Amino acid sequence: MRILAIETSCDETSVAIVENGTHVLTNIVSSQIDLHVKTGGVVPEVAAREQLKAMQPVIREALETTEISMEMIDVLAVTRGPGLVGSLLVGVNTTKTLAYLYDKPLLGINHLEGHIYANWLERTPEEINFPAVILTVSGGHNELIYMKDHRNYELIGRTLDDAAGEAFDKTARIIGLGYPGGVAIQNAAKEATPDKYWFPRAWLQDVKRGQRPKKITNFNFSFSGLKTAVLQEVNDKELSEQDRADYAHAIQTAIVEVLGEKAVAAASQYEAKTILLSGGVSANLALRDYVASHTKLPVFWPKKISYCTDNAAMMAAAAYFVYQTSQDKTFDWKGLETDPNLGLEYA
Ligand code: KG4
Ligand code: ZN
Repeated sequence: MRILAIETSCDETSVAIVENGTHVLTNIVSSQIDLHVKTGGVVPEVAAREQLKAMQPVIREALETTEISMEMIDVLAVTRGPGLVGSLLVGVNTTKTLAYLYDKPLLGINHLEGHIYANWLERTPEEINFPAVILTVSGGHNELIYMKDHRNYELIGRTLDDAAGEAFDKTARIIGLGYPGGVAIQNAAKEATPDKYWFPRAWLQDVKRGQRPKKITNFNFSFSGLKTAVLQEVNDKELSEQDRADYAHAIQTAIVEVLGEKAVAAASQYEAKTILLSGGVSANLALRDYVASHTKLPVFWPKKISYCTDNAAMMAAAAYFVYQTSQDKTFDWKGLETDPNLGLEYA
């Protein structure tokens, strides 16, 4: 089954064609990072207007580079939420038009489910054994999920305030590194004198400063305190390149340790067979290393960095599994709407 998916939930315009949920024929991502560097973040109206401009050229590029025509597509898919409303509307309107013109079924897919299914891209489905514990972390969300089987989710924990990606972005800005912050912090941290600085970890349990809980009982997260701690520490100081690297290392370690410890503890408590990392922050090499070196379970993360951050291939992967597990295959898209606050459906 060949699925063409469109993803426009935040600042990117992406079109992918994926076979059977795993084999990526094309995954074009037109990003607006250059535009947002100037403002230090995404300005929603600017994002949507750029997506309107990029939409048709990106669709054309996806079809032309693969020499696939619309007639050769079996199913269409689009991100219907969560995301920025103006941005979502561009993708949903476009796919509805295509579905009407070419008479194809259209599936509205949850962006978070796309991030989860990014792990199936370029893998055989049997490689990933259930039950799995998923740490899914990006700029806008931060969850620990128990996945019993395909599309069967149970929420284990979530952030009570900022997501880890947001913490990377905000603290990067405070220490004078660019946008997006995660990759800037990861790169700066390479030049650090390790352990020069230390920032507090919010375990949300009763533990002494500087110590790790012996047993993790709280699987929620909180990262807004880290932002405040970095702000207080840096204050109005003039930072050298080396200072930035040292702070970046301390920030990354603080975030990674909490995410990693909680993911590993959840996997053990829930007797998972597999740990999955997903979302933009799963691109972080320190996080991958931390989790992989603190468990004996197989740990997966999306096969390419471009599958970690927002992209349409992951939406096509999720759409494939939605299609396969749905009893009713009519997918009447006429009532399909965007939902900026769409959450995952938990069992
Ligand atoms: O999934 P994504 O592309 O968009 C959302 O759905 O939010 O995630 C973007 C987030 C940003 O906060 C970015 O700083 C973070 O993922 N990120 C990283 C890395 N690459 C992207 N965080 C840490 N290390 C990275 N290498
Ligand atoms: Zn995302």
